[in-house]
Amino acid sequence: MKERKEPEAQDSSLRAWLEDCPPSVRAEKKEALAAATEEAAEARRKFMEDGSAAKEGELIRDILRVADDELLAYPGTCSRAKYKKYGHFPETIVYDHFGNHEEFQRASGLRDTRTTKSYRDRRARLKSEETVQEYYAESVRPWCGAFERKNKGDEILLVCGSDFHGLEVDRFALEVFIDVCRRTQPDVVCLNGDVVDFNSVGFWSKNPNKLLDLQGEITWTVENILRPIREAAPDANIDFLVGNHEYRLIRYLCNVSPALASLSCLDFAELFSLKELQISLVSNDAILAPNERDRQEMSKQTWKIYGGCFVVTHGTSAGRFPADKELNKYGLSGMSGHVHRPQYQSTPTVVNPWADWMTCGMMAKNDLRDGAGHGETFKTGPSTWTTGFGVVSIFPKEGVALQTPVVIKRGIAEFGGVTYRERDACAEI
Ligand SMILES: [Fe+2]
Ligand SMILES: [Fe+2]
Repeated sequence: MKERKEPEAQDSSLRAWLEDCPPSVRAEKKEALAAATEEAAEARRKFMEDGSAAKEGELIRDILRVADDELLAYPGTCSRAKYKKYGHFPETIVYDHFGNHEEFQRASGLRDTRTTKSYRDRRARLKSEETVQEYYAESVRPWCGAFERKNKGDEILLVCGSDFHGLEVDRFALEVFIDVCRRTQPDVVCLNGDVVDFNSVGFWSKNPNKLLDLQGEITWTVENILRPIREAAPDANIDFLVGNHEYRLIRYLCNVSPALASLSCLDFAELFSLKELQISLVSNDAILAPNERDRQEMSKQTWKIYGGCFVVTHGTSAGRFPADKELNKYGLSGMSGHVHRPQYQSTPTVVNPWADWMTCGMMAKNDLRDGAGHGETFKTGPSTWTTGFGVVSIFPKEGVALQTPVVIKRGIAEFGGVTYRERDACAEI
């Protein structure tokens, strides 16, 4: 049961208000207030004795009288306690007409109506979206496709790695990935979302030191993932798809520190050395969806089509058959990540008899099989998560793509006739 406030406690704001007055006028005000209190009590008594009925309009006029009385504390407002003290109608009459004091205030225009409140809330949300839009327009969109180079041959060789998750990357898988890039010199290297983890962003306010981790993770990712990949494939198009974890950072930069987001050191491209390493972003403008649920869904739907016949997306589908779901969604052959496990699905149709989809494994370390790694803080029990990536040959003229999964199991991987073995956390070819 709600504890009832003592009359004295209810009057604490009034006391504070009185104390603010110069001593000369304090006594005068006290006297006027006592008179107003007495006058209101007398009016209520008379009303009850007469047994007359009050109209809604009279009640509204009365609460506005109390709210507008400059003698009383907080002019322009009328709380329940204030009306009980200075109102000319008893509370029971108010409740007969309005149900409760909040509704009484709404009817009198002293409180936002439900529609006004929802409008204000939406406007406030939109305000933070505008900051995201600004940041997106200045720091993300200009880098989409910024360093695209034209393909020379009839075939597009694509090496695609997903879900590196920053510091939680599997070092052996990364070395295999980089070596495959070096050996094959692909036309495109696609970093298919969740390249970084940004775990530190989620609960930053609880531990401000985590901000240091954020910078550390970005620097580590640039120096140990992005730069070695660029060095291994100097002529390749490198596409960096914005996944849900990168999206986290973008929103963090805008919402948590909007003032800082305009500094060049917090520019997305600067942070990831995109210009220096000639890495293009792939991001869907739908990041600007104003509704939270739409935003979360649509932000994951960043995708790019290669050779007119093969789509790469970070992916949104989960469950047992994500490859099938993605294939049905796009109706085009393709590859996705996000689910952290390899799966192949072929669903030929009359329109597209060669349609197939592959979800590739994650580039992050598998925690449950190897002891520690990505997901150890939130996953328990047997896991289907598997480390690996994918290699695709795309034939635009024929409109087909041939997909090859590269899977890492117990420190062994194989691709293109080469077996890689992990020894002392280093790849040995
Ligand atoms: Fe992921
Ligand atoms: Fe993801």
